[in-house]
Amino acid sequence: MQIKKQKILIIGSGGREHAIGWKVAQSLKAGEIFFAPGNGGTSKIGTNVNIKTTDITGLLEFAKKEKIDLTLALPDDPIALGIVDEFQKEGLRIWGPTKAASKLEWSKAFSKDFMRQHNLPTARFEIFNDYEKAKEYVLKQNLPIVIKASGLALGKGVIICQTMKEADEALINMFIKKVFGDSGNEVVIEEFMNGPEISIHAFSDGKNYKMFPSSQDHKKIGENDVGLNTGGMGTIAPLPFTTETLLKTIKENIVAPTIEVMSKDGNPFLGVLYPGLILTENGPKILEYNARFGDPETQTYMRLLETDIVDIFDACIDGNLDKIEIKWKRGFACTIVLASGGYPENYEKGKVISGIDSPLEEYPKGGVDKIHPPRLSATPQEGNDVVIFHAGTKAVGENFVTNGGRVLGISATGDTLQEALAKAYKAIEKISFEGMQYRRDIGQSALKISIYPS
Ligand code: GLY
Repeated sequence: MQIKKQKILIIGSGGREHAIGWKVAQSLKAGEIFFAPGNGGTSKIGTNVNIKTTDITGLLEFAKKEKIDLTLALPDDPIALGIVDEFQKEGLRIWGPTKAASKLEWSKAFSKDFMRQHNLPTARFEIFNDYEKAKEYVLKQNLPIVIKASGLALGKGVIICQTMKEADEALINMFIKKVFGDSGNEVVIEEFMNGPEISIHAFSDGKNYKMFPSSQDHKKIGENDVGLNTGGMGTIAPLPFTTETLLKTIKENIVAPTIEVMSKDGNPFLGVLYPGLILTENGPKILEYNARFGDPETQTYMRLLETDIVDIFDACIDGNLDKIEIKWKRGFACTIVLASGGYPENYEKGKVISGIDSPLEEYPKGGVDKIHPPRLSATPQEGNDVVIFHAGTKAVGENFVTNGGRVLGISATGDTLQEALAKAYKAIEKISFEGMQYRRDIGQSALKISIYPS
């Protein structure tokens, strides 16, 4: 039977979007692939179109004009703006959660209330709308204390305060100085949870769900988890310290009830549900919900996913996720992020990247027929075990140059986590750009943790 090729539009410009595009390009169903706006790397596997992720009208017009068969809504901003609802209204096929379903991510106040109402395990908390009342409450709490802007804040709206002075500063920044704009109008104050943080992902069609292997991001800029928060500096999967029993507990106590309640409340969650969890002494607890694929988690996950990802997107949209088996490769994968000097604060762009393929190198675009066997690596000597995903890059003449804070994700697979990490770090030795920084300890703390729960 002839398989219908789909024209696919991928919204976003990060490493996550390159990784999903790379996987989509290997699908038997993939026809032409577009990225809006994409990055240097995505321009090699598809066509970049210069439309911002928040320009919902522009994206809608493009999808109609190009007769796009399937749109993938990947970043949090367009999802929170209701891109899925807008496309659905026009009868366009789109994968991702609606605005109402994604409230789990874009309103921390809503999600914490949701957790309390449905007895989902999470930290004790209160919600405030003004500075004075919040300060009065904080002064009565134990330290450290966590202060969170309720709205989206590029991963920077969560402050762990070690002193009352830091807590007061965080409240002033949110309520008075408005450093997170409207996202800080409402603030969640919650008890600090002690334990390793892990990322859980599950595909959902609104009713059925399928869990991914467990993974872990490294959010701080500095080794040993010091310094400022970033979007994520590196990921590993699966976690060597998680057991089937733990994943079953997470599935039954967190993922299943969340999907079930969202559906019962009339907001079925279609997409990827990504709860960030803390493994506390008293069991796994929800730190936050995300309503999308994590980044850089996705760069690592795409290296392990065996099943045709377009089949999974189709099954989510068609409500028959229970009918397909999702297969993950044996072994481990990791991604190490190479970032611009100065990130996550100010950094310069336009630095020439050496040690990776040139944009001018021939690279057949789109669809498994054209790129099969898929060409995987920008460091051919590493073979298919290392794949370089672009994030903040741009093609300029015969070079890729830096164009963002997180520049590249160097991903590798191996039979063991140690092997995957060694391959990724070896590949990094060949890559350079002015100011390049990366963490040399990705995966190390996970390797030291004994099985949880012990
Ligand atoms: N891994 C961090 C995030 O995607 O939010």
